[in-house]
Amino acid sequence: MKIAIIGGTGVYDPRILDNIREMEIATPYGVVRFKSGEYAGKGVAFIPRHGSSHSIPPHLINYRANIWAMKKLGIKNIIATTAVGSLNLDMKPGDFVLIDQFLDFVKNRTTTFYEGGERGVVHVDVTTPYCPTVRNVLTDAANNLGISIHHHGTYVCTDGPRFETPAEIKMFAKLGGDVVGMTNVPEVVLAREAEMCYATVSMVTNFAAGISPQPLTHHEVLETMQANAENIKQLIMAAIER
Ligand code: HPA
Repeated sequence: MKIAIIGGTGVYDPRILDNIREMEIATPYGVVRFKSGEYAGKGVAFIPRHGSSHSIPPHLINYRANIWAMKKLGIKNIIATTAVGSLNLDMKPGDFVLIDQFLDFVKNRTTTFYEGGERGVVHVDVTTPYCPTVRNVLTDAANNLGISIHHHGTYVCTDGPRFETPAEIKMFAKLGGDVVGMTNVPEVVLAREAEMCYATVSMVTNFAAGISPQPLTHHEVLETMQANAENIKQLIMAAIER
């Protein structure tokens, strides 16, 4: 098996795959349940990050178990999807952003496999947090399909599960953030530590708090995701084919 898809909000359904099997894999952090299948002759693992019925909130996702399981399976490449709010008026609801940097505002999560002891002390380099190879594949796939995509973007990660205050959003924008979400840290960091090739397609579901005139709701996020589910599916399928 070579490719994993970590599906974010709105991407729970691996029906694009053939020969789907339910799988379980034990890790030092707990058991990970996921689906495996094939597409275009390639083995693909699919993990819905929030569980298959969106029951796991961002702060309770077992990020370490998920990445460890994918590594143990021999996966080399991970394509992740995330729903995000936008701080950048050029990145509108419905747009895709191939994020290339992050700002880590996570306070209450373990963001490493290396906690001293036997595994030692490791300071992973994150100059290029997202894998250029998978990013290029996604760019080519989007271009081929005529799906417009922003090629750069800085993802701000918050703990959630609450949305942000307008003051926080103003601060994140001043610091250079483009989009905000609740899951990419530590996922991207753990994938770097595991030396896996990981990239994320973010889907803008809303303008962030204070930029949007209305209060934010999870319903709004889901609605935009659902409206664009077909595009994200096509993009992932085309990327796997490459
Ligand atoms: N903030 C944080 N996470 C999100 C948002 C948001 O506005 N939209 C979708 N995920």
